[in-house]
Amino acid sequence: MAKTLWISDIQSGSFTGEVIELQGWIKRHRSSGKIIFMTIRDSTGEIQCVAKKADMNEENFDSLKNALIESSVKLTGLVKSDDRAPGGHELTISAGLIIGAVNAQNPFPITESAMEQTEGGETEFLLDNRHLYLRTSRMTTMLKIRSTIFGSIHEYFRKRDFIEYQAPSFVAGAVEGGSTLFEVPYFGRKAYLTQSWQLYAEAAMPALERLYTIAPSFRAEKSRTRRHLTEFWHAEMEIAWGGNEEVMEHGEALVRSIAKTILNERSDELESLGRDLNLISRYADSPYPRMRYDEAVETLQGMGVEIEWGQDLDYSKEKVLTKDFDVPHFLTHYPKIAKPFYHRPDPDDEKYVLCHDLLAPEGYGEIIGGGERTWSEKEILERIDEEGTPREPYEFYIDIRRYGGVPHGGFGMGVERVCSWLSGADHIREVIPFPRDSRRVTP
Ligand code: 4AD
Ligand code: MG
Repeated sequence: MAKTLWISDIQSGSFTGEVIELQGWIKRHRSSGKIIFMTIRDSTGEIQCVAKKADMNEENFDSLKNALIESSVKLTGLVKSDDRAPGGHELTISAGLIIGAVNAQNPFPITESAMEQTEGGETEFLLDNRHLYLRTSRMTTMLKIRSTIFGSIHEYFRKRDFIEYQAPSFVAGAVEGGSTLFEVPYFGRKAYLTQSWQLYAEAAMPALERLYTIAPSFRAEKSRTRRHLTEFWHAEMEIAWGGNEEVMEHGEALVRSIAKTILNERSDELESLGRDLNLISRYADSPYPRMRYDEAVETLQGMGVEIEWGQDLDYSKEKVLTKDFDVPHFLTHYPKIAKPFYHRPDPDDEKYVLCHDLLAPEGYGEIIGGGERTWSEKEILERIDEEGTPREPYEFYIDIRRYGGVPHGGFGMGVERVCSWLSGADHIREVIPFPRDSRRVTP
């Protein structure tokens, strides 16, 4: 029995001259009467395969000859080294079996030329066929980078003794304001889908002191933009006995370690997307400057952008601001009126809160939002009342302050925002298998 190999193993050159078995899908197929050229792909790569009528059982040759793109196959063949072949190797097929045949009445709808025309800017057609688009090389590459980024986040926190901790997805109150809450019927009552793990993490802060999660968060974002999903993966952390500075240091170190990891593990994939590796290595190595909100507003006004003090920065403004950044920048000290109740007012000037957003360069904008929490009972009640928020859903949150409150803080990082920026994607949809926005819950 010939050994079954991954394509990446065949392309490594260690099996040249051996007869091996390969299982995969037909990516390209062209034939004349006596010879078939196929490109076979699996999750690890692609390889060119040649079948000659003269070398094979005739029935077997004919079935391969009639096989359509995206049929799954098992092939037996001889590995040859060939400089002209992509990857440097080619398979001369001696036998082949079609496992899952594609029917001629129903050919694979996504043709390579359609793909090339829409590279990056996915059309509605490709979104409707997302379940099939996943197997194209651009999407495969994005999903591999995404997986490495998830792994890198877990590694960062676990190496530093953070405890992974889970919060409920059904909740009774808002974290990030009411306008983006998803309401769900809940046995005669109203519940909401969580916008953030934070409040429930704060409850465990006196128990575990350093916690993190990676979980879905939900925001009813009506507008469709290049950086908003209604369901996104949220990496969040919370630490006891820490303030805004310490939380920012973790945010910076985390993002740098993600950049380092993908540079080490996914440089081929990044290059295949046309990403400049020098940029990624700068994001891994250079320090991230800090800038106060007021300074950012002045900079924007100096650039002729219309913005009033007290407004949160929306995407259009962050885009202008970050276009010429060479590395991510922290924006700190936002006005209290621009941020939710849990942010701690700055004792030096109560108009501001001790918070930060990390803005990615190249026009990508916010990837992290975080800061120090209001941690005394008196202050949190003042902030809740000042905002006009009902106290009732937050009683558990206020209790945390009643029983041994300590200074603490944390941040949330949008994982798709980071994937999108580091891979140079045109749209956040490109980096999640089944994107959800206001118009789409299918497939
Ligand atoms: O800035 P946000 O709203 O902050 C919070 O949710 C805090 N409670 C987090 C915390 O301190 N634990 O969201 C955090 C990050 C943003 O910086 C952004 O990267 C991402 O979550 N994000 C989204 N990503 C994709 N689509 C959306 N609709 C997003 N909304 C926020
Ligand atoms: Mg934010």
